Amino acid sequence: MSKSIKLAILGLGTVGTGVINLINDNLDELKRRSGRDIIITEVGTRRQRDDIDTSIVQNDDLMAIASSDNVDIVVEVIGGTTFAKDLIIHAIKNGKHVVTANKALLAEHGNEIFALAEAHNVHVAYEAAVAGGIPIIKVMREALAANKIDWLAGIINGTGNFIMSEMRDKGRTFEDVLAEAQALGYAEADPTFDVEGIDAAHKLAILASIAFGIPLQFDKVYCEGITGITLQDVNYAEELGYRIKHLGFAVRRDSADSDSAGIELRVHPTLIPQDALLANVNGVKNAVLVNSHPLGQTLYCGDGAGAGATASAVMADVMDLVRILGNNGDAKANDDQSQGSHHVPHLAFMPEQLSNTPILRAEQMTTGYYLRVHAYDNPGVLADITRILSDAGINIDAILQKPAHKLGQVPVIILTLPVVENQMNLAIEKIEKLDAVTDKVVRIRLDELD
Ligand code: HSE
Repeated sequence: MSKSIKLAILGLGTVGTGVINLINDNLDELKRRSGRDIIITEVGTRRQRDDIDTSIVQNDDLMAIASSDNVDIVVEVIGGTTFAKDLIIHAIKNGKHVVTANKALLAEHGNEIFALAEAHNVHVAYEAAVAGGIPIIKVMREALAANKIDWLAGIINGTGNFIMSEMRDKGRTFEDVLAEAQALGYAEADPTFDVEGIDAAHKLAILASIAFGIPLQFDKVYCEGITGITLQDVNYAEELGYRIKHLGFAVRRDSADSDSAGIELRVHPTLIPQDALLANVNGVKNAVLVNSHPLGQTLYCGDGAGAGATASAVMADVMDLVRILGNNGDAKANDDQSQGSHHVPHLAFMPEQLSNTPILRAEQMTTGYYLRVHAYDNPGVLADITRILSDAGINIDAILQKPAHKLGQVPVIILTLPVVENQMNLAIEKIEKLDAVTDKVVRIRLDELD
Protein backbone atom coordinates (compact mmCIF):
# COMPACT_ATOMS: atom_id res chain seq x y z
CA MET A 1 0.00 0.00 0.00
CA SER A 2 1.24 3.57 -0.70
CA LYS A 3 2.41 6.08 1.82
CA SER A 4 0.07 6.58 4.81
CA ILE A 5 -1.99 9.73 5.11
CA LYS A 6 -1.37 11.49 8.40
CA LEU A 7 -4.29 13.11 10.12
CA ALA A 8 -4.42 15.58 12.99
CA ILE A 9 -7.65 16.01 14.95
CA LEU A 10 -7.88 19.42 16.60
CA GLY A 11 -10.47 19.18 19.37
CA LEU A 12 -11.65 16.08 21.21
CA GLY A 13 -15.24 16.99 21.99
CA THR A 14 -18.25 15.06 20.66
CA VAL A 15 -17.17 15.28 17.02
CA GLY A 16 -13.40 14.74 17.49
CA THR A 17 -14.04 11.68 19.62
CA GLY A 18 -16.60 10.48 17.08
CA VAL A 19 -13.96 10.72 14.31
CA ILE A 20 -11.46 8.66 16.32
CA ASN A 21 -14.11 6.03 17.04
CA LEU A 22 -15.15 5.91 13.39
CA ILE A 23 -11.57 5.37 12.24
CA ASN A 24 -11.11 2.62 14.83
CA ASP A 25 -14.38 0.92 13.85
CA ASN A 26 -14.13 1.20 10.06
CA LEU A 27 -10.40 1.29 9.31
CA ASP A 28 -10.62 -1.64 6.97
CA GLU A 29 -13.38 0.02 4.91
CA LEU A 30 -11.45 3.29 4.82
CA LYS A 31 -8.30 1.57 3.56
CA ARG A 32 -10.09 -0.50 0.93
CA ARG A 33 -11.99 2.51 -0.34
CA SER A 34 -9.09 4.96 -0.49
CA GLY A 35 -6.23 2.57 -1.22
CA ARG A 36 -4.28 4.29 1.56
CA ASP A 37 -3.63 3.78 5.21
CA ILE A 38 -5.10 6.66 7.19
CA ILE A 39 -3.47 7.22 10.56
CA ILE A 40 -4.08 9.79 13.24
CA THR A 41 -0.65 11.08 14.16
CA GLU A 42 -1.58 13.94 16.49
CA VAL A 43 -4.55 15.18 18.45
CA GLY A 44 -4.95 18.66 19.86
CA THR A 45 -6.45 18.63 23.33
CA ARG A 46 -6.13 20.86 26.34
CA ARG A 47 -6.10 18.01 28.84
CA GLN A 48 -4.34 14.66 28.40
CA ARG A 49 -6.75 11.81 27.73
CA ASP A 50 -6.00 8.27 28.82
CA ASP A 51 -8.56 6.75 26.45
CA ILE A 52 -6.52 7.63 23.34
CA ASP A 53 -4.17 5.14 21.68
CA THR A 54 -0.62 5.70 22.92
CA SER A 55 0.74 5.85 19.35
CA ILE A 56 -1.08 9.18 18.89
CA VAL A 57 0.73 12.28 20.12
CA GLN A 58 -1.44 14.42 22.38
CA ASN A 59 -0.50 18.06 22.33
CA ASP A 60 -2.10 21.17 23.81
CA ASP A 61 -0.26 23.40 21.33
CA LEU A 62 -2.78 23.27 18.48
CA MET A 63 -0.89 25.82 16.40
CA ALA A 64 2.17 23.55 16.41
CA ILE A 65 0.06 20.63 15.21
CA ALA A 66 -1.44 22.74 12.41
CA SER A 67 2.03 23.23 10.94
CA SER A 68 3.59 19.90 11.95
CA ASP A 69 5.59 17.94 9.33
CA ASN A 70 3.90 14.88 10.74
CA VAL A 71 0.48 15.96 9.42
CA ASP A 72 -1.05 16.00 5.90
CA ILE A 73 -4.65 16.86 6.74
CA VAL A 74 -5.89 18.95 9.66
CA VAL A 75 -9.37 18.22 11.00
CA GLU A 76 -10.64 21.26 12.89
CA VAL A 77 -13.47 20.38 15.28
CA ILE A 78 -12.97 22.84 18.13
CA GLY A 79 -15.66 25.23 16.88
CA GLY A 80 -15.85 28.98 17.45
CA THR A 81 -14.80 31.81 15.20
CA THR A 82 -11.67 33.26 16.78
CA PHE A 83 -8.99 30.69 17.69
CA ALA A 84 -10.38 28.22 15.12
CA LYS A 85 -9.96 30.89 12.45
CA ASP A 86 -6.33 31.53 13.43
CA LEU A 87 -5.70 27.79 13.44
CA ILE A 88 -7.16 27.18 10.00
CA ILE A 89 -5.32 30.15 8.52
CA HIS A 90 -2.08 28.86 10.05
CA ALA A 91 -2.72 25.36 8.65
CA ILE A 92 -3.47 26.73 5.16
CA LYS A 93 -0.38 28.92 5.16
CA ASN A 94 1.64 25.82 6.05
CA GLY A 95 0.25 23.93 3.08
CA LYS A 96 -2.13 21.68 5.03
CA HIS A 97 -5.49 20.60 3.72
CA VAL A 98 -8.26 21.29 6.17
CA VAL A 99 -11.48 19.48 7.04
CA THR A 100 -13.82 21.45 9.26
CA ALA A 101 -17.27 21.09 10.78
CA ASN A 102 -17.29 24.78 11.69
CA LYS A 103 -20.36 26.37 10.09
CA ALA A 104 -20.14 29.58 12.10
CA LEU A 105 -16.56 30.16 10.98
CA LEU A 106 -17.32 29.48 7.30
CA ALA A 107 -20.56 31.47 7.28
CA GLU A 108 -18.82 34.46 8.80
CA HIS A 109 -15.28 34.22 7.38
CA GLY A 110 -15.53 31.65 4.58
CA ASN A 111 -14.88 34.14 1.77
CA GLU A 112 -11.50 35.00 3.25
CA ILE A 113 -10.64 31.41 4.18
CA PHE A 114 -11.51 29.98 0.75
CA ALA A 115 -9.57 32.73 -1.03
CA LEU A 116 -6.54 31.99 1.12
CA ALA A 117 -6.86 28.26 0.44
CA GLU A 118 -7.00 28.90 -3.32
CA ALA A 119 -3.91 31.07 -3.06
CA HIS A 120 -2.03 28.32 -1.24
CA ASN A 121 -3.32 25.47 -3.44
CA VAL A 122 -4.92 23.62 -0.58
CA HIS A 123 -8.49 22.50 0.01
CA VAL A 124 -10.85 23.33 2.83
CA ALA A 125 -13.57 20.68 2.98
CA TYR A 126 -16.70 21.24 5.05
CA GLU A 127 -19.34 18.55 4.51
CA ALA A 128 -19.85 18.26 8.28
CA ALA A 129 -20.67 21.95 8.62
CA VAL A 130 -24.20 21.58 7.21
CA ALA A 131 -26.86 19.03 8.12
CA GLY A 132 -24.54 16.62 9.96
CA GLY A 133 -24.35 13.28 8.20
CA ILE A 134 -26.42 14.20 5.13
CA PRO A 135 -24.02 14.63 2.19
CA ILE A 136 -25.79 17.80 1.08
CA ILE A 137 -22.61 19.76 0.31
CA LYS A 138 -21.41 17.05 -2.06
CA VAL A 139 -24.86 16.84 -3.63
CA MET A 140 -25.07 20.58 -4.19
CA ARG A 141 -21.45 21.02 -5.33
CA GLU A 142 -21.27 17.95 -7.54
CA ALA A 143 -24.42 15.92 -8.13
CA LEU A 144 -26.61 18.96 -8.93
CA ALA A 145 -23.86 20.82 -10.79
CA ALA A 146 -25.79 20.78 -14.07
CA ASN A 147 -28.94 22.27 -12.57
CA LYS A 148 -30.13 25.79 -11.99
CA ILE A 149 -31.40 25.96 -8.44
CA ASP A 150 -34.60 27.96 -7.89
CA TRP A 151 -35.01 27.45 -4.16
CA LEU A 152 -34.18 25.21 -1.28
CA ALA A 153 -35.89 24.69 2.05
CA GLY A 154 -34.36 22.79 4.91
CA ILE A 155 -34.68 21.58 8.45
CA ILE A 156 -31.05 22.31 9.26
CA ASN A 157 -30.91 22.37 13.04
CA GLY A 158 -31.31 18.99 14.69
CA THR A 159 -31.75 20.38 18.19
CA GLY A 160 -34.58 22.69 17.13
CA ASN A 161 -36.32 19.92 15.22
CA PHE A 162 -35.90 17.55 18.16
CA ILE A 163 -37.43 20.11 20.54
CA MET A 164 -40.39 20.91 18.28
CA SER A 165 -41.07 17.20 17.59
CA GLU A 166 -40.94 16.14 21.26
CA MET A 167 -43.09 19.06 22.40
CA ARG A 168 -45.74 18.32 19.79
CA ASP A 169 -45.75 14.53 20.06
CA LYS A 170 -45.17 14.03 23.77
CA GLY A 171 -46.22 17.31 25.35
CA ARG A 172 -42.74 17.68 26.93
CA THR A 173 -41.51 21.09 28.03
CA PHE A 174 -39.04 23.14 26.01
CA GLU A 175 -36.43 23.10 28.82
CA ASP A 176 -36.70 19.35 29.36
CA VAL A 177 -36.12 18.51 25.69
CA LEU A 178 -33.30 21.04 25.33
CA ALA A 179 -31.47 19.46 28.31
CA GLU A 180 -31.74 16.05 26.64
CA ALA A 181 -30.41 17.46 23.33
CA GLN A 182 -27.42 18.88 25.19
CA ALA A 183 -26.74 15.56 26.95
CA LEU A 184 -26.89 13.74 23.61
CA GLY A 185 -24.30 16.10 22.10
CA TYR A 186 -26.69 17.65 19.56
CA ALA A 187 -26.80 21.20 20.88
CA GLU A 188 -24.27 23.96 20.27
CA ALA A 189 -21.93 25.03 23.09
CA ASP A 190 -24.28 28.00 23.44
CA PRO A 191 -27.75 26.50 22.85
CA THR A 192 -29.24 29.90 22.03
CA PHE A 193 -27.54 29.35 18.66
CA ASP A 194 -29.91 26.41 18.15
CA VAL A 195 -33.16 27.84 19.50
CA GLU A 196 -32.72 31.39 18.15
CA GLY A 197 -32.02 30.11 14.63
CA ILE A 198 -28.41 31.35 14.44
CA ASP A 199 -26.98 27.89 13.78
CA ALA A 200 -29.52 27.34 11.02
CA ALA A 201 -28.69 30.79 9.59
CA HIS A 202 -24.99 29.85 9.45
CA LYS A 203 -25.84 26.69 7.52
CA LEU A 204 -28.31 28.46 5.25
CA ALA A 205 -25.70 31.06 4.29
CA ILE A 206 -23.38 28.22 3.20
CA LEU A 207 -26.08 26.33 1.27
CA ALA A 208 -27.25 29.50 -0.49
CA SER A 209 -23.75 30.35 -1.67
CA ILE A 210 -23.37 26.93 -3.23
CA ALA A 211 -26.88 27.02 -4.69
CA PHE A 212 -26.62 30.42 -6.35
CA GLY A 213 -22.90 31.05 -6.70
CA ILE A 214 -22.91 34.07 -4.42
CA PRO A 215 -20.39 35.04 -1.73
CA LEU A 216 -21.16 33.97 1.83
CA GLN A 217 -23.45 36.59 3.37
CA PHE A 218 -24.48 35.43 6.83
CA ASP A 219 -25.07 39.01 7.93
CA LYS A 220 -27.93 39.29 5.44
CA VAL A 221 -29.86 36.19 6.60
CA TYR A 222 -33.21 37.08 8.19
CA CYS A 223 -33.36 34.99 11.37
CA GLU A 224 -36.18 34.00 13.75
CA GLY A 225 -35.95 31.10 16.23
CA ILE A 226 -38.46 28.78 17.88
CA THR A 227 -38.68 30.33 21.33
CA GLY A 228 -41.87 32.26 20.52
CA ILE A 229 -43.83 29.24 19.24
CA THR A 230 -46.73 28.29 21.52
CA LEU A 231 -48.55 24.99 21.76
CA GLN A 232 -51.72 26.94 20.92
CA ASP A 233 -50.36 27.87 17.48
CA VAL A 234 -48.99 24.36 16.92
CA ASN A 235 -52.53 23.02 17.53
CA TYR A 236 -54.36 25.60 15.39
CA ALA A 237 -51.93 24.91 12.55
CA GLU A 238 -52.60 21.16 12.85
CA GLU A 239 -56.34 21.80 12.82
CA LEU A 240 -55.95 23.61 9.52
CA GLY A 241 -53.86 20.81 7.98
CA TYR A 242 -50.44 22.38 8.54
CA ARG A 243 -47.42 21.68 10.75
CA ILE A 244 -44.99 24.22 12.14
CA LYS A 245 -41.37 23.44 11.34
CA HIS A 246 -38.28 25.58 11.79
CA LEU A 247 -36.93 25.99 8.27
CA GLY A 248 -34.21 27.79 6.38
CA PHE A 249 -35.12 29.08 2.91
CA ALA A 250 -32.91 30.29 0.09
CA VAL A 251 -35.07 31.50 -2.79
CA ARG A 252 -34.13 33.14 -6.07
CA ARG A 253 -36.72 35.72 -7.15
CA ASP A 254 -36.40 36.65 -10.80
CA SER A 255 -38.48 39.68 -11.60
CA ALA A 256 -38.80 42.22 -14.36
CA ASP A 257 -38.98 44.81 -11.59
CA SER A 258 -35.36 45.20 -10.47
CA ASP A 259 -36.53 46.30 -6.98
CA SER A 260 -37.97 42.91 -6.16
CA ALA A 261 -35.42 40.73 -7.98
CA GLY A 262 -32.84 39.08 -5.78
CA ILE A 263 -32.31 36.31 -3.29
CA GLU A 264 -34.23 35.68 -0.08
CA LEU A 265 -32.19 34.20 2.76
CA ARG A 266 -34.42 33.48 5.73
CA VAL A 267 -34.71 31.19 8.72
CA HIS A 268 -38.01 31.07 10.62
CA PRO A 269 -40.80 28.86 11.95
CA THR A 270 -43.03 28.00 9.01
CA LEU A 271 -46.40 26.35 8.51
CA ILE A 272 -46.06 23.67 5.84
CA PRO A 273 -48.72 21.17 4.68
CA GLN A 274 -48.96 18.19 7.05
CA ASP A 275 -48.58 15.78 4.17
CA ALA A 276 -45.34 17.37 2.88
CA LEU A 277 -42.37 15.03 3.39
CA LEU A 278 -40.54 17.76 5.29
CA ALA A 279 -43.43 17.97 7.77
CA ASN A 280 -42.78 14.35 8.71
CA VAL A 281 -39.05 14.66 9.36
CA ASN A 282 -38.87 14.46 13.13
CA GLY A 283 -36.45 14.23 16.04
CA VAL A 284 -32.85 15.15 15.38
CA LYS A 285 -33.26 14.42 11.66
CA ASN A 286 -32.45 17.16 9.18
CA ALA A 287 -33.76 17.35 5.62
CA VAL A 288 -33.08 19.62 2.69
CA LEU A 289 -35.54 19.96 -0.20
CA VAL A 290 -33.97 21.36 -3.36
CA ASN A 291 -35.99 22.61 -6.30
CA SER A 292 -33.79 22.74 -9.37
CA HIS A 293 -34.14 22.83 -13.13
CA PRO A 294 -34.39 20.47 -14.95
CA LEU A 295 -34.22 17.89 -12.15
CA GLY A 296 -37.21 19.12 -10.13
CA GLN A 297 -37.61 18.54 -6.40
CA THR A 298 -35.19 16.23 -4.56
CA LEU A 299 -35.11 15.61 -0.82
CA TYR A 300 -32.10 14.66 1.30
CA CYS A 301 -32.73 13.43 4.82
CA GLY A 302 -30.74 12.00 7.73
CA ASP A 303 -29.27 12.68 11.16
CA GLY A 304 -28.26 16.32 11.38
CA ALA A 305 -26.27 16.22 14.60
CA GLY A 306 -24.43 13.87 16.92
CA ALA A 307 -21.05 12.16 17.01
CA GLY A 308 -21.57 9.39 14.44
CA ALA A 309 -23.38 11.48 11.83
CA THR A 310 -20.88 14.32 11.96
CA ALA A 311 -17.87 11.98 11.99
CA SER A 312 -19.28 10.29 8.88
CA ALA A 313 -19.26 13.63 7.03
CA VAL A 314 -15.80 14.58 8.32
CA MET A 315 -14.32 11.29 7.14
CA ALA A 316 -16.02 11.49 3.73
CA ASP A 317 -14.12 14.75 3.25
CA VAL A 318 -10.89 13.16 4.46
CA MET A 319 -11.35 10.36 1.93
CA ASP A 320 -11.88 12.89 -0.88
CA LEU A 321 -8.68 14.65 0.10
CA VAL A 322 -6.80 11.37 0.30
CA ARG A 323 -7.79 10.69 -3.30
CA ILE A 324 -6.86 14.22 -4.41
CA LEU A 325 -3.51 13.90 -2.64
CA GLY A 326 -2.80 10.80 -4.70
CA ASN A 327 0.07 8.46 -4.10
CA ASN A 328 2.69 11.19 -4.12
CA GLY A 329 0.77 13.30 -1.59
CA ASP A 330 0.83 16.39 -3.81
CA ALA A 331 -2.61 17.72 -4.69
CA LYS A 332 -1.30 20.59 -6.82
CA ALA A 333 0.93 18.37 -8.93
CA ASN A 334 -1.90 15.89 -9.40
CA ASP A 335 -4.24 18.63 -10.55
CA ASP A 336 -1.62 19.87 -13.01
CA GLN A 337 -0.87 16.39 -14.30
CA SER A 338 -4.41 16.00 -15.50
CA GLN A 339 -4.22 19.45 -17.12
CA GLY A 340 -7.27 20.44 -15.24
CA SER A 341 -8.38 20.26 -11.70
CA HIS A 342 -9.93 17.50 -9.65
CA HIS A 343 -10.86 20.21 -7.25
CA VAL A 344 -14.51 21.32 -7.22
CA PRO A 345 -14.46 25.06 -6.39
CA HIS A 346 -15.10 25.68 -2.70
CA LEU A 347 -18.48 27.29 -3.35
CA ALA A 348 -19.20 25.14 -6.44
CA PHE A 349 -18.80 28.08 -8.85
CA MET A 350 -15.45 29.33 -10.12
CA PRO A 351 -14.33 31.99 -7.61
CA GLU A 352 -14.13 34.70 -10.29
CA GLN A 353 -17.68 33.82 -11.41
CA LEU A 354 -19.44 34.51 -8.10
CA SER A 355 -22.40 36.78 -8.68
CA ASN A 356 -23.42 39.97 -6.91
CA THR A 357 -27.17 39.28 -7.08
CA PRO A 358 -28.64 41.35 -4.23
CA ILE A 359 -29.99 39.75 -1.06
CA LEU A 360 -33.51 41.03 -0.45
CA ARG A 361 -34.38 42.83 2.78
CA ALA A 362 -37.04 41.29 5.04
CA GLU A 363 -39.71 43.80 3.88
CA GLN A 364 -39.13 42.67 0.28
CA MET A 365 -39.61 38.95 0.98
CA THR A 366 -42.71 37.09 -0.16
CA THR A 367 -44.41 34.38 1.91
CA GLY A 368 -47.85 33.22 2.95
CA TYR A 369 -48.89 33.95 6.54
CA TYR A 370 -50.67 32.43 9.51
CA LEU A 371 -52.21 35.22 11.59
CA ARG A 372 -53.78 34.83 15.02
CA VAL A 373 -55.83 37.87 15.94
CA HIS A 374 -57.46 38.25 19.35
CA ALA A 375 -60.58 40.39 19.25
CA TYR A 376 -63.78 41.03 21.18
CA ASP A 377 -66.62 39.03 19.74
CA ASN A 378 -68.47 42.12 18.41
CA PRO A 379 -70.53 42.17 15.22
CA GLY A 380 -68.46 43.31 12.24
CA VAL A 381 -64.99 42.64 13.68
CA LEU A 382 -64.24 39.85 11.27
CA ALA A 383 -65.49 42.01 8.41
CA ASP A 384 -63.18 44.85 9.50
CA ILE A 385 -60.17 42.52 9.62
CA THR A 386 -60.85 40.93 6.25
CA ARG A 387 -61.50 44.36 4.68
CA ILE A 388 -58.10 45.60 5.83
CA LEU A 389 -56.48 42.52 4.30
CA SER A 390 -58.37 42.80 1.04
CA ASP A 391 -57.63 46.56 0.77
CA ALA A 392 -53.93 45.63 1.06
CA GLY A 393 -54.36 43.15 -1.80
CA ILE A 394 -53.86 40.20 0.54
CA ASN A 395 -55.68 37.05 -0.49
CA ILE A 396 -57.19 34.99 2.37
CA ASP A 397 -56.87 31.24 1.96
CA ALA A 398 -58.62 30.00 5.13
CA ILE A 399 -60.24 31.37 8.29
CA LEU A 400 -60.87 29.62 11.59
CA GLN A 401 -62.79 31.33 14.37
CA LYS A 402 -62.91 29.65 17.75
CA PRO A 403 -65.75 30.26 20.23
CA ALA A 404 -65.17 33.15 22.67
CA HIS A 405 -63.08 31.68 25.50
CA LYS A 406 -62.57 34.51 27.97
CA LEU A 407 -64.22 37.87 28.51
CA GLY A 408 -65.95 37.56 25.16
CA GLN A 409 -62.64 37.47 23.19
CA VAL A 410 -62.18 35.19 20.19
CA PRO A 411 -59.04 33.98 18.53
CA VAL A 412 -59.39 34.37 14.77
CA ILE A 413 -56.92 32.38 12.70
CA ILE A 414 -56.31 33.50 9.13
CA LEU A 415 -54.12 31.87 6.50
CA THR A 416 -53.09 34.04 3.56
CA LEU A 417 -51.63 33.43 0.13
CA PRO A 418 -48.10 34.77 -0.47
CA VAL A 419 -47.69 38.49 0.04
CA VAL A 420 -44.72 40.86 0.22
CA GLU A 421 -43.87 41.40 3.88
CA ASN A 422 -44.08 45.15 3.66
CA GLN A 423 -47.76 44.91 2.65
CA MET A 424 -48.43 42.54 5.52
CA ASN A 425 -46.70 44.86 8.00
CA LEU A 426 -48.98 47.74 6.98
CA ALA A 427 -52.12 45.59 7.19
CA ILE A 428 -51.19 44.24 10.64
CA GLU A 429 -50.55 47.75 11.88
CA LYS A 430 -54.11 48.68 10.85
CA ILE A 431 -55.61 45.51 12.36
CA GLU A 432 -53.91 46.18 15.69
CA LYS A 433 -55.45 49.66 15.73
CA LEU A 434 -59.01 48.29 15.57
CA ASP A 435 -60.81 48.95 18.90
CA ALA A 436 -61.98 45.36 19.15
CA VAL A 437 -58.51 43.87 18.70
CA THR A 438 -57.01 43.21 22.13
CA ASP A 439 -53.47 41.91 21.58
CA LYS A 440 -50.57 42.04 19.17
CA VAL A 441 -51.26 39.93 16.09
CA VAL A 442 -49.28 36.67 16.12
CA ARG A 443 -47.80 35.94 12.70
CA ILE A 444 -45.96 32.89 11.42
CA ARG A 445 -44.90 32.44 7.82
CA LEU A 446 -46.49 29.76 5.65
CA ASP A 447 -45.15 27.93 2.60
CA GLU A 448 -46.86 25.32 0.44
CA LEU A 449 -43.44 24.06 -0.77
CA ASP A 450 -44.73 23.74 -4.34
N1 HSE B 1 -26.36 22.09 17.08
C1 HSE B 1 -26.40 21.59 15.76
C2 HSE B 1 -27.78 21.00 15.52
C3 HSE B 1 -25.35 20.54 15.58
O1 HSE B 1 -28.51 20.78 16.48
O2 HSE B 1 -28.14 20.79 14.38
C4 HSE B 1 -25.07 20.20 14.16
O3 HSE B 1 -24.64 21.29 13.42
